[in-house]
Amino acid sequence: MYSKFVMHIVRVLLAVATLLGLHSQIAQTKDWWENGNYYQIYPRSFRDSDGDGIGDLNGVTEKLPYLKSIGITAIWLSPIFKSPMVDFGYDISDFYSIQPEYGTLEDFNALIAGAKQIGLRVLLDFVPNHTSDQSEWFQKSINREPGYEDFYVWSDGKVDADGNHKPPSNWLSAFRYSAWEWNEQRQQYYLHQFSKQQPDLNYRNPLVVAKMKEVMRYWLDMGVSGFRVDAVPFMFEVKPYEDGTYPDEPVIDDVSICPDPDDECHLKHIYSQDQPESIEMVYQWRELLEEYTKENGGETRIMLTEAYTSFDNLMLYYGDGVRNGSMCPFNFYFMRNVKNDSSAQEIVDIIERWLNNMPEGVFANWVLGNHDTPRFTTRLGEQRADVFTILLQTLPGNAVTYNGEEIAMTDGKVTWNQTVDPQGCASSPDTYEHYSRDPSRTPFQWDATKNAGFSCADTTWLPVADNYRQNNALAQLRAPKSHLKIFTKLLRLRKTRSLQDGALQIKAIGNDIIIYSREVAGDDLYVIVLNIGDTKQNLNINEYFGMGKKAEVIISSMQSTYRDGVIIDPSNFVAEPYVGVVLVKV
Ligand code: GLC
Ligand code: MG
Repeated sequence: MYSKFVMHIVRVLLAVATLLGLHSQIAQTKDWWENGNYYQIYPRSFRDSDGDGIGDLNGVTEKLPYLKSIGITAIWLSPIFKSPMVDFGYDISDFYSIQPEYGTLEDFNALIAGAKQIGLRVLLDFVPNHTSDQSEWFQKSINREPGYEDFYVWSDGKVDADGNHKPPSNWLSAFRYSAWEWNEQRQQYYLHQFSKQQPDLNYRNPLVVAKMKEVMRYWLDMGVSGFRVDAVPFMFEVKPYEDGTYPDEPVIDDVSICPDPDDECHLKHIYSQDQPESIEMVYQWRELLEEYTKENGGETRIMLTEAYTSFDNLMLYYGDGVRNGSMCPFNFYFMRNVKNDSSAQEIVDIIERWLNNMPEGVFANWVLGNHDTPRFTTRLGEQRADVFTILLQTLPGNAVTYNGEEIAMTDGKVTWNQTVDPQGCASSPDTYEHYSRDPSRTPFQWDATKNAGFSCADTTWLPVADNYRQNNALAQLRAPKSHLKIFTKLLRLRKTRSLQDGALQIKAIGNDIIIYSREVAGDDLYVIVLNIGDTKQNLNINEYFGMGKKAEVIISSMQSTYRDGVIIDPSNFVAEPYVGVVLVKV
């Protein structure tokens, strides 16, 4: 409430300043997170400080100045907690301690202190749906220790005519095969929506809900600014029938899309995912974050939520009109629907649908990649890396950068023998390339030295992509023009008033041109032209936006023949193949 009031005063003062002609180029009109750039660090692959071939916390701390210098608002660390590493940290055995190969609690404190010193916020990954099977909680639950009996989703299952145990339903794990595993000791099945070493917590048990809220408060007390919340749609399942079994999920309508009966895409997850209670839990966490913010100094603590779900559900994650939810439901609608062959109009429609349907008072989010998805440079074409970076960073709201996107890293090559991702390992030598998430997780390419400057070890946990000698952060810092320099300029541009507060006017021209403006009345007018196609096109920008006679090219793709700083005539603009350009009216 208090910070909202302050922000309101700031906005009023800025509006007055603008009227008086006192507007400045850079002005923070938003709360810290609203227009932020969130940078996802996959700690295992970011920077190895101790030479064991595995990235670590001290490695992250070492690179904080780099992240600050390119303009990042907050970093989000993929899980750093104690874990047997079956799912590389998404299988947590102790929510309260740091994985030793990543460092110690002191290292974590040093990271937080270092970040604070330079004004970078830190977000942690909160993994509420499941724990590791090595968690003390799961061990206690197997033994039916008082208080822990119903911590996980247990079921007797079914018995067939021959007296054999059968799972309580046909549900499938995200990593193939049944989502139910028989436990000999307890003589029951438990649910695991991911690997069998990741048993699902039982959110119908209020003790579980309370315990996980304690976990959140613990890390907030350690100085983090919030969380990225993992796998939210999986938290609740339907209630069991009286005999403890669950309803089977129906097979998808068009089986040809996913014929493999062991692959989770074969079923419609109407009972195991997307239950309204899961979204309600997000509202409860929002209340916790707001309470915490109020009790602890007013700086907003935030949550970003991971949900691969329907468009309508994504809107509900923001709130239901009565209660607030996630500040930032990752825009996977954008990530999944912007495809290699999307037309300009299709992309414009995807953007507008989100903006036109968000509830009032929230901020849009734009994201194209993460550690579970092939890198967008690989997916959408290396020649268009800058085009999509420009798009992501100039739309209204906040943006996510997955580590390496700022230097246009591509997917690394990982052979079947080198594959370690459980989703890859559960497939076969013929199909693993379709399933394995390792290629987007190869080590960050810092420089042209051994292992791309990621590690001095002889072998790294995943191979370094072999294009690192040409494509690395140091080379891009030194080059007069580079993906990294384009990225850095864009992040600076995001801080201008027109980019923070300006309305978006967006249009498609023909199959390949996306053109849009960002402007606050009385402040700078920016026009962005993106050519997603391979043919040169001549444009009169004044037909769409009143730029007048002169505009300055302030940011442009690597291949652009317009140099940054050049003044051009907007009525005679050449949109070059696969080139994006940001213009400002002068
Ligand atoms: C999320 C994570 C993914 C993990 C899964 C299970 O989708 O991003 O990496 O495997 O949850 O925790
Ligand atoms: Mg290490």
